[in-house]
Amino acid sequence: MENNRNKAPIDNLSLLIKLINIIVFLSVCVFIYLPMQPYINAYLKRPTYSKEELDSFTKKRMVFQEDDWDRVEHGIHVRTGMIYDANFKYIEAKCLSCHSAKLITQNRADRNGWQQMIKWMRETQGLQDLGEAEPFILDYLTEHYAPKELGRRPNLDIENIEWYVLELD
Ligand code: HEC
Repeated sequence: MENNRNKAPIDNLSLLIKLINIIVFLSVCVFIYLPMQPYINAYLKRPTYSKEELDSFTKKRMVFQEDDWDRVEHGIHVRTGMIYDANFKYIEAKCLSCHSAKLITQNRADRNGWQQMIKWMRETQGLQDLGEAEPFILDYLTEHYAPKELGRRPNLDIENIEWYVLELD
């Protein structure tokens, strides 16, 4: 009899503990779920593509890689717009990671001028030492991006001009 009477509070206690356990478990779930909710939503709402669409993506990427990435047309490397020759690979490896090729092609200088620009970038812009590539890079830049001769109109060849006669009546 006494045993039975003593059991009742213990049952209540274990019920309470179970309840607390459940509450703790649920709040842990909520705390895990809340920060992940945007990701879960994004996953559930992710775009789905048909097999044809996926194939066309793959095809486009292959065309891009095969045809466009290193295409050279009329001596111009199409992707960068730079003149293409055997030394271009050094430019591609050393000069195009920080800025576009445009910054290079819009400049003109002789060998010394290019050397100064490289020196300036090394001292102030974090350019690494170019190592063995430097002479090839300077060759390339000096050959293709030398100062343009300022265009001067050629003299008129007066002797060979066919003058036309202005007829007045
Ligand atoms: C570590 C990054 C980095 C690399 C690699 C780099 N540059 Fe630069 N370069 C810069 C920064 C930064 C500028 C300044 C950009 C600006 O002013 O907007 C710059 C500017 C230039 C300019 C313009 C200078 C001027 O006075 O207008 C030229 C030309 C140039 N770089 C050529 C080159 C060449 C050639 C190479 C390869 C040898 C090269 N860069 C590699 C960072 C780099």
